[in-house]
Amino acid sequence: MNTPADNRRVVSGMRPTGRLHLGHYHGVLKNWIRLQHEYDCFFFVADWHALTTHYEDPSAVPEHVWELVIDWLAAGINPNAATVFIQSRVMEHAELHLLLSMITPLGWLERVPTYKDQQEKLKERDLSTYGFLGYPLLQSADILIYKAGWVPVGEDQVPHIELTREIARRFNHLYGREPDFEAKADAAIAKMGKKAGKLYRELRRRYQEQGDDEALATARALLEEQQNLSLGDRERLFGYLEGMGRIILPEPQPLLTEAAKVPGLDGQKMSKSYGNTIALREDPESISRKIRTMPTDPARVRRSDPGNPEKCPVWAFHQLYSDDKTREWVWEGCTTAGIGCLDCKQPVIEAVLAELAPIQERARELEANPAVVRTIVQEGCERAREVARETMDEVRGAMSLVYR
Ligand code: TRP
Ligand code: SF4
Repeated sequence: MNTPADNRRVVSGMRPTGRLHLGHYHGVLKNWIRLQHEYDCFFFVADWHALTTHYEDPSAVPEHVWELVIDWLAAGINPNAATVFIQSRVMEHAELHLLLSMITPLGWLERVPTYKDQQEKLKERDLSTYGFLGYPLLQSADILIYKAGWVPVGEDQVPHIELTREIARRFNHLYGREPDFEAKADAAIAKMGKKAGKLYRELRRRYQEQGDDEALATARALLEEQQNLSLGDRERLFGYLEGMGRIILPEPQPLLTEAAKVPGLDGQKMSKSYGNTIALREDPESISRKIRTMPTDPARVRRSDPGNPEKCPVWAFHQLYSDDKTREWVWEGCTTAGIGCLDCKQPVIEAVLAELAPIQERARELEANPAVVRTIVQEGCERAREVARETMDEVRGAMSLVYR
């Protein structure tokens, strides 16, 4: 099933693992900042996910949580546009995780590639825990509880979204069925009125008999427009379009944008584990020093040796930060030994500092006003909780966990 075009809900999370750097900014945050104006975005700090690997000493988690929120806000996440919150403050995530665990075959979790990969990679930690195995299922709960249509993530997370889709499908299959589904669908169609009801049936037939995707999209749009339908009826009719039962938890899709590959100071990808980062809140002196001392084309030993920008990490920075004219100047100057490496680095230093100046300014303000940050998060948690509660009411209902 494809995400209906009208599902504008976006959910994404980050684990609180320390201050963000330019890699996060260009690779993830700039994308979030763009999305917040086009979608209904829910961005949260995945503090429980941090515990799956750092359970032995969680003492740094709170500090990292606030650092992360400040970095987001300083970079341009706007709490009036996006809902910003902390996972563990919306307990419903845990309840959904638990309920989904009932229907999740162990094999599905063991097969997720990150499971074995991370265990291999983080050999020094004991990750043979229940919580770690459940990592992608908790992520599924994070997403499904908001009925998100889209999840901006990197390539490495795509299998987690795939699992989320399978879980949603299984859930809908098991609990979306009602004994009198057909009769309830008929009654719901009647509520749409004669004309719209007839059109709906016609579009459904065209989709089911001829696989006409356009008819499916039109029918979904038609359902969205209906004022007379309750939430339950609408879901029923979404499900009826495709012939199954009710769709309680819609299947999300990954939202992959070709994220700018941010070079690290040594030419590898920028990453904390390589120690080649520039933090968003790093002081300008330190940034200048790091760039001034970063390696260049190793063949360019003396100032008089010509160099090859293709073999130089500084060139990668020029790709990201410089205009055509500057890049021409670099290429010409480097290959003819017309400029020195320090000359070459100067525009990069200036561009990075100029990019970070407003971010650092906002970060300072937020650091000085922790109450502002707390309030933003508190309001975000409340907004998130409202949506999560509604979903859980439906989920409990579908799973017969209602006691009257
Ligand atoms: N697993 C994600 C990561 O490591 C973080 C995450 C947790 C997440 N829950 C999520 C991302 C829900 C998107 C949606 O990057
Ligand atoms: Fe690298 Fe610039 Fe030096 Fe050439 S001149 S080696 S591109 S830093």
